[in-house]
Amino acid sequence: MTQTPLNPGDSPLVREALSSVVSRETSATQAATQAGDTPGGAESTWPRPPKCRVIAVANQKGGVGKTTTSVNIAAALSMNGQRVLVVDLDPQGNASTALATEHRGDVPDVYQVLVDDLPMADIVKQVPDMPGLYCAPATIDLAGAEIELVSLVAREARLRRALSAYEAELDYIIIDCPPSLGLLTVNALVAAEEVMIPIQCEYYALEGLGQLLRNVDLIKAHLNPTLRLSTIVLTMYDGRTRLASQVAEEVRAHFGDTVLNTVIPRSVRLSEAPSYGQSVMTYDPGSSGAMAYMDAAREIAHRAATV
Ligand SMILES: Nc1ncnc2c1ncn2[C@@H]1O[C@H](COP(=O)(O)OP(=O)(O)OP(=O)(O)O)[C@@H](O)[C@H]1O
Ligand SMILES: [Mg+2]
Repeated sequence: MTQTPLNPGDSPLVREALSSVVSRETSATQAATQAGDTPGGAESTWPRPPKCRVIAVANQKGGVGKTTTSVNIAAALSMNGQRVLVVDLDPQGNASTALATEHRGDVPDVYQVLVDDLPMADIVKQVPDMPGLYCAPATIDLAGAEIELVSLVAREARLRRALSAYEAELDYIIIDCPPSLGLLTVNALVAAEEVMIPIQCEYYALEGLGQLLRNVDLIKAHLNPTLRLSTIVLTMYDGRTRLASQVAEEVRAHFGDTVLNTVIPRSVRLSEAPSYGQSVMTYDPGSSGAMAYMDAAREIAHRAATV
């Protein structure tokens, strides 16, 4: 696994391989679907990780699919026997909305955990109709946390402290980061052992990635030696455009096995689901987006054995 900043000059080298990569992705998806657990198949159970995996879903670039990925991977894992907490670390509260978790008014939220030392147990809610899935909501108050944290003791480790004091039995904690590299994202990277980076298959997708990776390295060196980039997920893939497959291939050339085989396609169902307070897994389990996130979650769960 290489974690070097991207070199845009590499992309022409891989064009030859593009068509075979796309067909490999397609056949992998088909094989996985034929193999059984389609979305909604609650009977199937995936292996539990030996200890709780804490995964920060980060990319300071906005709108690349962090929240969609956090929510749907979490839902898919929970539908396959995993106990999963989504921590909404974005003042926009999009993950809370998608998980039908109240995050308006004076609901206790992540802000109070980070700034006022409220125990995690006081804010975590079970997601309606989703056994095993929990959400720690974010209200707009969290927008003030970037500034208020600055003057607090152990400002980078507030989330880590709160999560280690939280004694719920969980298999996964998935932290949905805001689109910035500020103190909220730093808290996520200090609390996590794994970073998952969603990359949108578009022209500017790789811009800023070097900066994110440098931050991960800095946090690893100074604050959290166990942190590692474990997963890259390619999102909003439009198979009709050559650009999407070029971006996908360039990312694979640099990051190798870190990149999930499953690619998340563009799917209007994925963007509709949050307005119904649902993940796409329940909103439209047969849609291409739901099937792709199910496959992605399966890959993540089965990698657990090797991490
Ligand atoms: N695969 C997809 N197909 C179609 N639309 C998508 C897909 N993934 C995400 N979207 C939509 O794109 C928008 C951005 O996605 P999302 O909110 O997940 O990104 P984000 O990285 O969390 O954004 P932010 O940086 O603002 O937190 C949303 O409207 C979402 O519904
Ligand atoms: Mg988001």
